[in-house]
Amino acid sequence: MFDTGLVAAFSHKETPFYYYDLALLQRTLDQAKQAATAHGFHVHYALKANFNDRVLDLIRDAGFGADCVSGNEVKKAIETGFSPDAIVFAGVGKSDKEIQYALDHDIFAFNVESVQELKVIDGLAAVRGKKANVALRINPNVDAQTHHYITTGLNENKFGISHWELGDAIDTLRACQHIELIGIHFHIGSQITDLNVFKSLCVKVNELNSWFDERGFRLRVLNVGGGLGVDYHDPDANSIPDFRSYFQVFADFIERKPGQEVHFELGRALVSQCGSLISRVLYVKHGIKKNFLILDAGMTELMRPALYQAYHKIERLGAPSASEAELVHYDVVGPICESSDCFGKEVLLPPSARGDLIAIRTAGAYGEVMASRYNLRDEIRYVYGERH
Ligand code: LLP
Repeated sequence: MFDTGLVAAFSHKETPFYYYDLALLQRTLDQAKQAATAHGFHVHYALKANFNDRVLDLIRDAGFGADCVSGNEVKKAIETGFSPDAIVFAGVGKSDKEIQYALDHDIFAFNVESVQELKVIDGLAAVRGKKANVALRINPNVDAQTHHYITTGLNENKFGISHWELGDAIDTLRACQHIELIGIHFHIGSQITDLNVFKSLCVKVNELNSWFDERGFRLRVLNVGGGLGVDYHDPDANSIPDFRSYFQVFADFIERKPGQEVHFELGRALVSQCGSLISRVLYVKHGIKKNFLILDAGMTELMRPALYQAYHKIERLGAPSASEAELVHYDVVGPICESSDCFGKEVLLPPSARGDLIAIRTAGAYGEVMASRYNLRDEIRYVYGERH
């Protein structure tokens, strides 16, 4: 991914910065779109993964809808030019102001996470003389078999409506004049690499689809959320996720009733691999037990390792190829005053020195968006590349 020309170009830039390979992003989007369209599936891009302007422009142009989790994300999607009738709005804690904004812009649907929220949307829509489309987010109690911080579809999680509340939900839907149930929605977690997990989800979707049908609700939309994982260990060999196999699972296992649409909300799988965090070695410190590479990027730029103990591949750019014997173990750390500010322990790298460039790979999703100004850090910078 990083040829010598690119590394030379980086050497003049102020670090740290996010590098986005827009050509790779385009190829990823093309493959995802093609694989989804083959089955007539609709994909909403989850803005929470990355809302960088150029990234969003490409995603909009590729014809994806938008999945938002705040009023500001809905606003960003509309300002970027995503069609409001392809915007869905999820989230357990939508404020009145956020709901009003989305109602005023006639978004496609609210993914509603509680019975109380149904009533609030109904009331706010009534004031406007509108009818809001809603999809019920149901907690299917399916184990996504991923990190527990990014598992969302278990009984113990705060997301969605539980099975035992469904009776109450349909009574509310029947009583409310300003909401219309168009579908059901699920999202069980993120970074899911075992496609069998999605088969289990399909079984639950089918059960619930029939349950609503038996009670006279003709659902138009089955929204199965996002969650497809990426390869953090080998970003070059697997720079584009296997979208065909992923969508094929749903094509094979979802039992669509006539006229029903299947919707998806992909974030990570679309944008992870096109992004890398580029940083410089500030200091090399040889401790009693360890060697430390201290970078000018920290958890403030990429929080995932500190928050989830997430693995990201770390590479020294422009290093002459070193034999295994020459490689050195480093703990690669940032400058922030927290011990969790560590990108990787015992990382094998060629011997490194002050000023060397380091790439932290697969950082396009949940990287820049989760950056903070803790320690009064600089605003995050980014650089776009469009090499083919
Ligand atoms: N739909 C809903 C309702 C979601 O909550 C999410 C992600 C998505 C779609 C997109 O999921 P994806 O396709 O990206 O897996 N910060 C964490 C990930 C949090 C995911 C939150 N929800 C991380 O860095 O791993």
